[in-house]
Amino acid sequence: MAESEKGLYYIEGMPVPETSKPGEPPKPWGKTQIVGKAVPRVDAYERVSGSAVYPADVSLPNMLYGAILRCPHPHARVKKVSVEKALHLPGVSAIISSDTPGANPTWTYSSGSVEIQSRLFDPVCRFEGEAVAAVAAETPYRAWDAVRAIAVDYETLPFVADERLALKPDAISIHKGGNRVEPTKIYARGDVAKGFAEADVILEQEYRTECEIHSPIEPHGCVANWDGNRLTIWESTQGVYRVQSNVADILNLPLSMVRVIGHYMGGAFGSKLQAGKYTVIAALLAKRSGGPVKITLSREETFLAVGNRPAANMKLKAGIKKDGTLTALDFECLGTGGAYPAGGTSGVDWLVRDLYLCSNVRTKSTDVYVNAGPARAFRAPGHPQGAWALEQMMDALAEAIRMDPVEVRLKNIPSVSQGRKGQPPYTTTGLKECLKEGAAAFGWQQARKQIAESGKKGTVRRGVGMAGALWAAGGGRPPSTIILKLFSDGSVNLNMGASDIGTGTKTVMALVVAEELGANPDLIQIEHADTGTTQFATPSGGSKTVPTESPAVRAAAIDVKQQLLAIAARDLKVEADSLEFKSGGIVSKTDPSRKIRIAELSGLKQRGVVVGIGYRGPNPENKIANPFAAQFCEVEVDIRTGEVRIIRFLGAHDSGRVMSRLTYDNQVFGGITMGIGLAATEARILDGNQTGKMVNRNWHDYKLPTALDVPADMVSLPIDLGDTEVNTTGAKGLGEPVTIPTAAAVANAVYHATGVRVTTTPINPVKLCRLLAG
Ligand code: MOS
Repeated sequence: MAESEKGLYYIEGMPVPETSKPGEPPKPWGKTQIVGKAVPRVDAYERVSGSAVYPADVSLPNMLYGAILRCPHPHARVKKVSVEKALHLPGVSAIISSDTPGANPTWTYSSGSVEIQSRLFDPVCRFEGEAVAAVAAETPYRAWDAVRAIAVDYETLPFVADERLALKPDAISIHKGGNRVEPTKIYARGDVAKGFAEADVILEQEYRTECEIHSPIEPHGCVANWDGNRLTIWESTQGVYRVQSNVADILNLPLSMVRVIGHYMGGAFGSKLQAGKYTVIAALLAKRSGGPVKITLSREETFLAVGNRPAANMKLKAGIKKDGTLTALDFECLGTGGAYPAGGTSGVDWLVRDLYLCSNVRTKSTDVYVNAGPARAFRAPGHPQGAWALEQMMDALAEAIRMDPVEVRLKNIPSVSQGRKGQPPYTTTGLKECLKEGAAAFGWQQARKQIAESGKKGTVRRGVGMAGALWAAGGGRPPSTIILKLFSDGSVNLNMGASDIGTGTKTVMALVVAEELGANPDLIQIEHADTGTTQFATPSGGSKTVPTESPAVRAAAIDVKQQLLAIAARDLKVEADSLEFKSGGIVSKTDPSRKIRIAELSGLKQRGVVVGIGYRGPNPENKIANPFAAQFCEVEVDIRTGEVRIIRFLGAHDSGRVMSRLTYDNQVFGGITMGIGLAATEARILDGNQTGKMVNRNWHDYKLPTALDVPADMVSLPIDLGDTEVNTTGAKGLGEPVTIPTAAAVANAVYHATGVRVTTTPINPVKLCRLLAG
């Protein structure tokens, strides 16, 4: 590149933040130059052109294809697996099952302190879709032919598919000791009896949300390849380092011998936070067949075996004074993580504990086993379920005391996390601003008034509804290590272990580097998500990726700047203190004629590279950083057909600093869309009476929301209170909070339109018609 073009790496004239001294924390950014702007994704071209390499695109010489034989019964003992016929089919190179020596390692399922040791191919299959055997063959078709040629002798066992029946005296036991995962968990503060005695109004209601399947566009899968005793895995994952440690543990390998690469992935929503059985199976098949093995699960397999958002059966009793003061909340939840411990009630009670001011709260959570696929973290685990109950209850309480639903929430804004020990304060609580500014931008008052005035006439009724939320796991946390390399021509390479799970992480990080250095974000090369070449990172989940990685990226950029200033001080024969970094160059603060371009620094030319390292510092002591939200929507209900049309949605979100406006808004639209799925279309249906099998394991019978189900009119309203405590970039996390209040807001709008409260998901025409007729 010609000398004159080198300036292109930097944005001419862009001011950059003052460089902090080594060892001193950087000052908060304040107003930013480029962070927060609506810029296209740094990898937009790769994504839309098809040149981005996803694990399913990886194709290696002599690669074989794996397929997994799965148990067709919800509960069965595997008596015999006969593979002889399958082994002799053309193109079949390896078959493994529980009988294969060295191919059946321990498989641990755990949730909190509860752990159950199973096997990769367990002799007892406790859910439909459990792995029984696996094949590697020359083509996927030959692999599936071989799977079908394996004969399995099953002893089918009685099953229980419904968590509401799992504790009945006549229910079969899925594990020794019965179907309780652990004793019912109880949380309590204050005195609920006293709280109810103080209440002017007490309401009690049961609620239920159905089980949802993650349904990422890219199914789960990997390619495994051995080079001697070194294993490389290309995996569709949220965390390459998590997969590395899972596989190393299970196969008893040193971490250094397992390399996991996951540059691109097509969605996960929590279901790809860990290695799958298919990952270990691919590695074992590759070892036995001597060639790389690719396994991509079928859509049906992803419905059965790689996680779900469990159903929640909830009961909430609430007391309120006429002035809107909540006096007591008493909540119960029965849930299931499926056939193994998997957090069947995790997070469901959190909003009841923490979202609104209330001195007297009790929650009881009971987690049981059923014969169904294990749950996995699913976008804000437990929270949308809890919001479905709490936010409908708040709506009903508001009506009972004749107060506006927004007003009743504004009466109960917390400044501390009441549900946590010691009740630590939040760094910022944007709930009030989300409610107020959201209501104003939506036109809440006018819409309520207009609908009230037009009266309940005609067969198509309008209604507006809203709901609030917080996300308990936001804010990010250590560790994160980032390396930033600045080459001799001034160009920059960012090296980070975290995965970009489709949420724009890479773009956000490029903007952080750009902000500090004045660099052109499009020209920052990013290496990421590869345990062989990038730094340790925890999985991208819990909406923690941006608030976890961005402060480390900022620290690495500052480290580079400090080193460049020191080099420039030697070149210009002045004190480093007297110099400042200015887009693409270094200038004397007192004598602007003394300046040098980065590419001209002699120390940089000599070394060829300056390496900056950034670490994620600790979180503020005794404070909690949580995102808050309020959403508003308008619906139209045809009371003859029960059809609900969602006309518009507004999401007001306090997730701290907006790091990239385009990515931010798209997270809001995506999260609302997913919440509409919970509200209106999605439900796993198990045939509980006869077969115990899932009956809608495909995208025809399991309804994801489409463009026809979501409104064209969606508004994202960022609420940024300028949180300078949360971390050095001010971001609190956005992906998960968005999906929390959506379904409850829809239910409240449907109630407003019809006077019918739908307490179970999904709100579909069949159900709503019946309720309207009643
Ligand atoms: Mo999330 S459910 O931690 O990807």
